[in-house]
Amino acid sequence: MYRVIENKYLKDDMYLMKVEGKFEGKMGQFYMLRAWDNYPLLSRPISICDIDENSITFLYKVFGEGTKILSKLEPNDTIKLEGPYGNGYEKVSGKVALVGGGIGIAPLYLVAKNIKDCDAYLGFRNEAVLEDEFKKVCKDVYVATDNKFVTDMLDVAKYDYILTCGPTPMMKKLVDMTKNTNTKIMVSLENHMACGVGACLVCTCKTKNGNKKTCKDGPVFWGEDVIFND
Ligand SMILES: Cc1cc2nc3c(=O)[nH]c(=O)nc-3n(C[C@H](O)[C@H](O)[C@H](O)COP(=O)(O)OP(=O)(O)OC[C@H]3O[C@@H](n4cnc5c(N)ncnc54)[C@H](O)[C@@H]3O)c2cc1C
Ligand code: FES
Repeated sequence: MYRVIENKYLKDDMYLMKVEGKFEGKMGQFYMLRAWDNYPLLSRPISICDIDENSITFLYKVFGEGTKILSKLEPNDTIKLEGPYGNGYEKVSGKVALVGGGIGIAPLYLVAKNIKDCDAYLGFRNEAVLEDEFKKVCKDVYVATDNKFVTDMLDVAKYDYILTCGPTPMMKKLVDMTKNTNTKIMVSLENHMACGVGACLVCTCKTKNGNKKTCKDGPVFWGEDVIFND
């Protein structure tokens, strides 16, 4: 069990939780979080938003039972974390754009800290969160709010790589936009998960190389390999 240092409400049901401890983890990997005994049955997968020598930070949005319990945690409460799990983003160089939609910006903050001089495009249904933090670690930051589409703001062909996380229609659109360009794209899928470690097949996704487990083979895949459901 680990100690919660801070669990701060930002905006729009989004919280930033910092937990004390020495944690491993690369950009795009996730932890399974649990702050309850028996109900709900399953731990919840949340991406690493930031990590340093003595703490790990998660950005999460309240959806249902599990994240609601997380949102009630106070400093000094305890939480169980298992991980890091999954294959994250590959470290790429060249001209890189990060594209996050809503809570999908969560893993991209650690990416921004790892990839120097990247641009970030952040889209939100209502108000922006972590905009200032991204500005400190990115070259240029573009923000779309109030239901404007972040995908309308970028010229994908300007970039060698796009690393994205967010709603599936947004990621699918970005993959389509990169077709007929030299731009490569990595997408982070957020399929529903149960075990988080490759044992139950709940998280299966379709790729050109056959069915894959999102939790173990992903959650990050090359966009051109993913077969998105229509
Ligand atoms: C690899 C990965 C990384 C994620 N990173 C983040 C993050 O950084 N911040 C964040 O806010 N959310 C993230 N999510 C989504 C988050 O896991 C769900 O919002 C959360 O599990 C919902 O749980 P709940 O109990 O509040 O909702 P409920 O709807 O009550 O959950 C019921 C069940 O469905 C699963 N589930 C529900 N919604 C999702 C979803 N969108 N994705 C996966 N499983 C879901 C739950 O794990 C649980 O098993 C991530 C999901 C995955 C797969
Ligand atoms: S969540 Fe069980 S195999 Fe992926």
